[in-house]
Amino acid sequence: MFIEVKNYFNNKKKYRFIVSVIDNEKPTLEFKKELETEEGTKIDLLKDVVVKDNSKEVIKPEIEGTYDFNKAGEYKLYYIAKDSSNNTVKEEFLLKVKEKKKVESKERKNKINTTSKGYEIVNKEGVTLIGGYLVVNKTYSLPKDYGDGLKSDTKNKFNKMKSAAEKEGLNLFISSGFRSYTRQNTLYNNYVKNDGKEEADTYSARPGHSEHQSGFAIDFNTVDDSFADTKEAKWLSSNCYKYGFILRYPKDKTNETGYKYEPWHFRYVGEDLAIKLYNKGNWITMESYFGITSTYN
Ligand code: DAL
Ligand code: ZN
Repeated sequence: MFIEVKNYFNNKKKYRFIVSVIDNEKPTLEFKKELETEEGTKIDLLKDVVVKDNSKEVIKPEIEGTYDFNKAGEYKLYYIAKDSSNNTVKEEFLLKVKEKKKVESKERKNKINTTSKGYEIVNKEGVTLIGGYLVVNKTYSLPKDYGDGLKSDTKNKFNKMKSAAEKEGLNLFISSGFRSYTRQNTLYNNYVKNDGKEEADTYSARPGHSEHQSGFAIDFNTVDDSFADTKEAKWLSSNCYKYGFILRYPKDKTNETGYKYEPWHFRYVGEDLAIKLYNKGNWITMESYFGITSTYN
């Protein structure tokens, strides 16, 4: 820049001078106060940072502080921007590196256990559902505190069945319905005392393994082999499926069920499954139908 000066004689003189403008103003920063990512996933921390300055110069921000994208945690960091006059702005932001959801648990969620015949096995708080049906046998047990009586469906369908039998002059009554873990424990231990463990295991379930604890099982009338020859036993065997019951331990199926023939023990499963297992009188066991075992390990 120049300035022109005249003296008394009107002589002009030109002077040159330099104006230097001092920049005292800091740049300003626009940014997200919190950034989030997952362990192992890098993100560009400068992506959304905008630096503005009165100088109109292009200023590249920098990051101060340490962080690790591979380690979950919260990192307190700073953006720093400096203009050519050394005016510096420093602002805090938070980087959140979240813990990676365990791949293992995802896998576990997706892992479906199935029987040899492809039925889904679900364990819900110690209770086993196979193909949607509660299963109790030598392989699958119930928790100690499970059960508090016959299930309402079992009771209702029993009443219907009893009425139907009555119309044919037959008398059905429950000699053993629900049995608690404790009750089964007492019974089983007595059988072991009298017959020995090996023998007891052929006709009595160990505590936690009795279907009676499920509230789905009923022993009818006289609980001994002579029952098989009664009219009631014959009627039950050929009609129970209509009320959703199955003959749970059929003759000659010990290798499947794990128990001797029990003409008096029926299990409620609902009509849909009952008619399949009835199989026109040639009873299929739950073990064979679902493709499961009944053995103590
Ligand atoms: N008698 C059957 C197997 C039970 O004890 O549950
Ligand atoms: Zn029984």
